[in-house]
Amino acid sequence: RLLIIDFGSQVTQLIARRLRELNIYCEIHPFNAVDDAFLRDFAPQAVILSGGPGSVPAEGSPRAPALVWSLGVPLLGICYGQQLMMDALGGKVESGLHAEYGRAFVQPATGHTADGIFAGLFDGGQEEVWMSHGDRVTKIADGFEVIGISPNAPFAIVADETRNFYGVQFHPEVHHTPNGKRLLENFTRLAGFTGDWTMASYRGEAIRKIREQVGDKRVICGLSGGVDSSVAAVLIHEAIGDQLTCVFVDHGLLRLNEAEEVVTMFRDNYNIPLIHADESEMFLGALEGVTDPEVKRKTIGKLFIDVFQKYANEIEGAEFLAQGTLYPDVIESVSFAGGPSVTIKSHHNVGGLPEKMGLKLVEPLRELFKDEVRALGTELGLPAKFIGRHPFPGPGLAIRCPGEVTREKLDILRQADAVFIDQIRKHGLYDDIWQAFVAILPVRTVGVMGDGRTYDFACALRAVTSVDGMTADYYPFTHQFLGETATRIINEVKGINRCTYDITSKPPGTIEWE
Ligand code: XMP
Repeated sequence: RLLIIDFGSQVTQLIARRLRELNIYCEIHPFNAVDDAFLRDFAPQAVILSGGPGSVPAEGSPRAPALVWSLGVPLLGICYGQQLMMDALGGKVESGLHAEYGRAFVQPATGHTADGIFAGLFDGGQEEVWMSHGDRVTKIADGFEVIGISPNAPFAIVADETRNFYGVQFHPEVHHTPNGKRLLENFTRLAGFTGDWTMASYRGEAIRKIREQVGDKRVICGLSGGVDSSVAAVLIHEAIGDQLTCVFVDHGLLRLNEAEEVVTMFRDNYNIPLIHADESEMFLGALEGVTDPEVKRKTIGKLFIDVFQKYANEIEGAEFLAQGTLYPDVIESVSFAGGPSVTIKSHHNVGGLPEKMGLKLVEPLRELFKDEVRALGTELGLPAKFIGRHPFPGPGLAIRCPGEVTREKLDILRQADAVFIDQIRKHGLYDDIWQAFVAILPVRTVGVMGDGRTYDFACALRAVTSVDGMTADYYPFTHQFLGETATRIINEVKGINRCTYDITSKPPGTIEWE
């Protein structure tokens, strides 16, 4: 496996993404958690030192443990990582003066052509790369030579080919360096990786680890019906069978037929022991009169924990709690700026539970990115329709119902949402959209249907494209699609007489309405 030491670059995660795409297993660890003991224990087959906002000449700037230079494994330093490598091995780095941001072109230094780290590169004589650095190397370390240059970075690529140490001033991991992945691939080939890490091998390894961790103890798993917790549950069930019990808390804020679908899938298709906790009365009761979005979220989050705990207590001998935590949630961010960030929304999750309950965690998806979880789900035989489902928030329909949440509004919302999703599926658009749903607005408007007057709720359709939910764009439906959908919703859903389309991007909007 390959170790990525993170020095705080905004794009460190992309190094891991690119390597995973090459079927190479890697892990990111922050520089301040990597010491000699860690390195010995991890025993990496190669190490990549990431970029970062620090400045090597500055006192107290982040360092790598000295052992890294004498491990005897191939190293690749990117940007800050390159500068660190040069500084540590006898070169020199200077601050200021040489800042360079954006596109640049690198050429091989005289005498260096298409093999080794350069295999398949420089076909057109030069490579487009993305630079982002304030300092630069002014003297390279002993044993190194310059093998790539750019107009502003005379040490764009340096190498000590006998030790397989490489340093690049630019960022090969970003899309703006079109052939950067090839360079990363070449580096990993030099380090002996063949790209044989697949979901099938992950599945086997994960099952072995779960068995080893859990032994003959019992595990409980909170199911939300989302992809992550479902894949985790199926994987754990494969590992330990009926030592696993799932608890599905139905808070009465689910979509049309959702509870039945989840329960059927787990009980009938997988034979996984499942407690279906129908607690909708309690949740909807607690939400009576609540209109503030944060109060709604906190009310639901707190009750969820109480209910989960109540059912978990009934499972005798449970020592572990399974969670579908993913890699992006795990990577510790390396922060130099510090300072608290503003809470936009309190996301509802089961954080804090295990501590309160005295349970140990089983998190078999900790090393995976979202698309890898989907691939694992496919590997485990979960239905494609289920794996490709749009994300659904923990607080459910409550945050798609601005104002007070009532049963009447929830029923109307469920119907409208089902029509909208049906329309999207019929037009073959479901997989092009990150998330689509209806929000029911807290206003009634006047309409005319047949010869009569109506005074019903208005709704808003929301559909966005996104990569990770952090930013989003509204989906550009055709007017015909929108018109047809509005007509269907108003005709088929009693209680709605007006339909709007939300064309706000994120930012400044958020995806959900609350
Ligand atoms: P926002 O509305 O913040 O949503 O732009 C971004 C993504 O997160 C989902 N979301 C949640 N997911 N618990 C969740 O598990 C929550 O409390 C929660 N709130 C929002 C939202 O559906 C979108 O995919």
